[in-house]
Amino acid sequence: MLPFSLIVAVLSCFPSRALASHGLSSRALLTFASPLDGGGSMLNNAGGGLGEPLNVIISGLSSPNVLTNGGILNYARSLGFSNECFNVHLGDPQSANLGDGNGPVNQTIELRQDFGDAAFGTCFESLIGGNHFRVYRQNGPKANTGALFLAVSHEEDVSQHHTISLPDGYDNGRDLLVAAATAGDTFFDGALYNAVAQNVTGLLPVGAVGINHNIPIDGVAVLLTVTIANAFDPCANGVSWCSSAPHTMMPQLSTIAFSVMLCMFMAFSLL
Ligand SMILES: *[C@@H]1O[C@H](CO)[C@@H](O)[C@H](O)[C@H]1NC(C)=O
Ligand SMILES: *[C@@H]1O[C@H](CO)[C@@H](O)[C@H](O)[C@H]1NC(C)=O
Repeated sequence: MLPFSLIVAVLSCFPSRALASHGLSSRALLTFASPLDGGGSMLNNAGGGLGEPLNVIISGLSSPNVLTNGGILNYARSLGFSNECFNVHLGDPQSANLGDGNGPVNQTIELRQDFGDAAFGTCFESLIGGNHFRVYRQNGPKANTGALFLAVSHEEDVSQHHTISLPDGYDNGRDLLVAAATAGDTFFDGALYNAVAQNVTGLLPVGAVGINHNIPIDGVAVLLTVTIANAFDPCANGVSWCSSAPHTMMPQLSTIAFSVMLCMFMAFSLL
C-alpha cells in the first residue's frame, strides 16, 4: 500500500487544467432563470440517475466582479473556502444542465472549506471533512444571466470517500455557507462583501427522491445577492483576482517548497 504522502506528491505534480475565461458583456440583467423553464434541472448529475441539489444561487444582479471565476474564488475565501488542496481533485467532476441552452456542463470549479488557511487548509478539509461546493455558471444563449449555481454540501472525511454527512449534509452545508455569508460583511484580498439572502421554494424537490446518497432535502434554494461594498472599487486598482480568472491563488513560498519536495520524493521513489 502506498503511503498517503506519496499519493499526494503524485497528484500535486499534475495541476488540473486552467479554466476557460468568461465574458459578461452580453449578459441579461436578471437574478437567474429557472433551469426548469429551459429543460434543465436544479439537481446536478452525480451519476446513477441521482443528483446533488443546486441549493445556493449567487444572483446575476450581484456585483459583476463577484461572478467571474476569480471573483467567486475570492468571495469564497472571504467565507472561509479555498480551492482544493494543491489543486488536487479527489472526486469526478459532476455536470449540471442550467436550462440556458448549454446542455450539461461540468462544474467550473470546486471549493472546499479552508479552516482559516487559504493555502493549506483545504488539505485538512480533504482529510477531516467539511463544507464544500461545486460552481456552475448560467451563461448559455437561452439564459445568459451570469448567475452562479452552487451545489453545497457538508462532507465526511477522505476515509469515507467524501460521502455527504448524514442525515442532512445538503441543507446543513447550505445553511453553514449562508450563515457565514450573512453574519456580517466579509473580507478577502481587498474586497469587502455584503450578502443578502432570500429563500426560493418550488424549484428544488422536497424529500430524498433522486437525491444523491438518498439524503432528504427541505426544498429550499437560497438566492444570495453579493455586493462588493468597498467605498472605492477594489478592481479599479487592479487587484489580481479582478482582471484574471485565476484557479489557484499564488501559493506561499513554503507551499511551493513543500510541493517541490514531495515531487522530488516521488521522482526518487520511482527510480
Ligand atoms: C466532464 O468531465 C469528465 C472527465 O473529465 C468527462 O469525461 C465528461 O465528458 C465531462 N462531461 C461534460 C458534460 O462535459
Ligand atoms: C429559509 O429557509 C431555511 C431552511 O428551510 C429556514 O431555516 C429559514 O428560516 C428560511 N428563512 C426565511 C426568511 O424564510
